[in-house]
Amino acid sequence: MSHITICGTSPLSGEISVQRAKNSVLPILAATLLHRGSSRITHCPRLGDVEAAADILRHLGCKVHREGQDLLVDAASLTTQTIPPALMGRCRASILFLGALLARCGEASVGFPGGCPLGPRPIDLHLHALRTLGAECRQQEGMLHYRTTGLRGQEITLPFPSVGATENAMLAATAAEGITLISNAAREPEIVDLQDFLQKLGADVRGAGTSVICIRGGRSLHDAVHCCIADRIVAATYLCAAAACGGQITLRNTDYRHLCPILTALQQGGCTIRSTEDTVTLCREAPLRAAGTVRTAPYPAFPTDAQPLLMAAMLRAEGETTFIETMFTHRYGHVPPLRKMGADIRLAGCRATVRGTATLHGDIVHAPDLRGGAALMIAALAAEGTTEIRDIHHILRGYENPVETFGALGACIYEGNCKGGDTHGTTQPLQSQTAAGRLFPAV
Ligand code: EPZ
Repeated sequence: MSHITICGTSPLSGEISVQRAKNSVLPILAATLLHRGSSRITHCPRLGDVEAAADILRHLGCKVHREGQDLLVDAASLTTQTIPPALMGRCRASILFLGALLARCGEASVGFPGGCPLGPRPIDLHLHALRTLGAECRQQEGMLHYRTTGLRGQEITLPFPSVGATENAMLAATAAEGITLISNAAREPEIVDLQDFLQKLGADVRGAGTSVICIRGGRSLHDAVHCCIADRIVAATYLCAAAACGGQITLRNTDYRHLCPILTALQQGGCTIRSTEDTVTLCREAPLRAAGTVRTAPYPAFPTDAQPLLMAAMLRAEGETTFIETMFTHRYGHVPPLRKMGADIRLAGCRATVRGTATLHGDIVHAPDLRGGAALMIAALAAEGTTEIRDIHHILRGYENPVETFGALGACIYEGNCKGGDTHGTTQPLQSQTAAGRLFPAV
């Protein structure tokens, strides 16, 4: 698929199931290395980043194959502890294989990780955690060479609650002798999901979801089966699209508790939101209103990954929304293509102010990164005319079948060029529907 074509302004309606979380699957695939046996990841999404992680596992000597929707990893024997730069550069999460390899083999040589171009993305906190556990590092010709005569449990204090550094420390600490305490750990739901998988393997890990994670290393591990949590950022994408276009959609297999700051912003914009234990329904009938000031920060605050998505929705809102991006220095790559589509956005450092009254129009635009590309899909769905989104490999790194999924919600969206007059994903007239569940915030 080279590009996506979208014909905008139809309201969205219908019910879809949300894919499992990319940012859970990736650390869990690295964690499969810890056990000399088999792991089954059920409902594993087909994504560019998952394929990159699977290719790293195959390169290391693991057998990786699909059985229906499941991904099976047999890590009984490894043939190398080296991951070359070409494989490492395919995603950011490749750096998590460093902690897992050190735990499994006591040594690892890896290139530097890739990932979305969001500004500098150092790995100093990852390396600090691994050094604290007793690994020695040498850097040579673009490769990191790590070796240990035995990892030992320690107290690791992270200066910032980095998601990846917390995960790398958890992976390495499962093989460290004694107790490791990770203080100022990231608290994202994906960290809790990694803990759940490690516990299923037989590891002694507690505290994920709080700022202190405790790992008693050295336990013997066994085969595990795991289904990851729903992807909260993918859920936010479909909710923001429905807010932008109007209509009513229901997301199945999703957890509203992981979406609170996003649901609060959309509710402030005038959307009605209902939730049950595993569904979220959003209805937007009245004109959308601005969401005020939105500041990104580590979980449980507003997620940086949802900033481009909410910004695209707020292009249709009455009034001004201000975004303050505190996590990444270059996370406004979607602003130039949105402006090309008619958006009124002022940028000043980490602050972006959106005036949502401009009429959006279709154009040819390029996805700048994963979530920036998703923001362009949302804007295109709400824009008059036809938009062609190119460089969609960025989008496919994190979204499984976005064309089919938006099509199921009644969007006019195609792979490749628009087929004249053909309405893929027939637009349904908006009907008054009764949604199940409690009004958000749930009481
Ligand atoms: C994870 O990246 C996610 N990726 C990102 O999602 C997400 O944007 C990010 O967390 C923040 O929520 C995966 O889980 C695979 P961090 P990660 O380490 O682990 C600085 C998406 O769209 N930092 O918490 O790389 C860093 O520069 C992606 O799905 C250091 O300074 O994020 C950044 O400013 C994009 N030194 C901040 O911390 C370090 O050693 C947050 O990074 C590590 C990080």
